[in-house]
Amino acid sequence: MDDLAISHLKEDDDFSGFSCGESDLDDFIMEDAFRNQRNGLTNTYVLYKGNLPVGFYSIVMESVRSADITDVKSFGIPSVAAVLVARLAVDSRYQGKCLGQALLYDAIYTAKELSRTIACRLVVVDSKPESAGFYEKHGFRQITALGRRRYPRYYLDLLTI
Ligand SMILES: CC(C)(COP(=O)(O)OP(=O)(O)OC[C@H]1O[C@@H](n2cnc3c(N)ncnc32)[C@H](O)[C@@H]1OP(=O)(O)O)[C@@H](O)C(=O)NCCC(=O)NCCS
Repeated sequence: MDDLAISHLKEDDDFSGFSCGESDLDDFIMEDAFRNQRNGLTNTYVLYKGNLPVGFYSIVMESVRSADITDVKSFGIPSVAAVLVARLAVDSRYQGKCLGQALLYDAIYTAKELSRTIACRLVVVDSKPESAGFYEKHGFRQITALGRRRYPRYYLDLLTI
């Protein structure tokens, strides 16, 4: 697809025509995302086709219990730093065109770059069951303990990429 660009969410971005099929994500981008960004709670990056926002992801730092990452023998510390992709969505009209993948790669690239200056070992996502295959396809593995979370958490080890 032509004419695509990713940049920081701006106050005047118009998401009024945006719908990804999950109302909580639509509500977040229309009502909360910019306020959260201004308040230093999550940063949101928007994928534009021309001037039209067609997708987004939000990221924030997170801490993960080492014991939950079962395929690493031992970190030697109780918890490890991670980047949490807190939300990721593509407008329904543009799904199935590799735009979700482009957003996920951008988030992973951002985390990898960050990890060169501030130690950060993992990328994590809390995935709805219907999207789990999307993350598994991109190398994410499930954390077995659900904890207090509503949805299972998946992780990618930044040292492996
Ligand atoms: C999940 C979502 C972001 C995927 O975006 P997308 O642009 O439609 O996906 P892409 O076209 O980039 O797909 C890339 C690959 O992942 C696969 N894939 C996409 N969604 C998938 C799913 N739900 N389950 C399994 N595989 C999936 C595609 O088949 C494609 O594989 P291919 O390269 O072999 O053809 C999008 O469907 C969406 O916004 N859904 C609603 C919100 C949501 O569930 N967000 C996830 C956070 S909980």
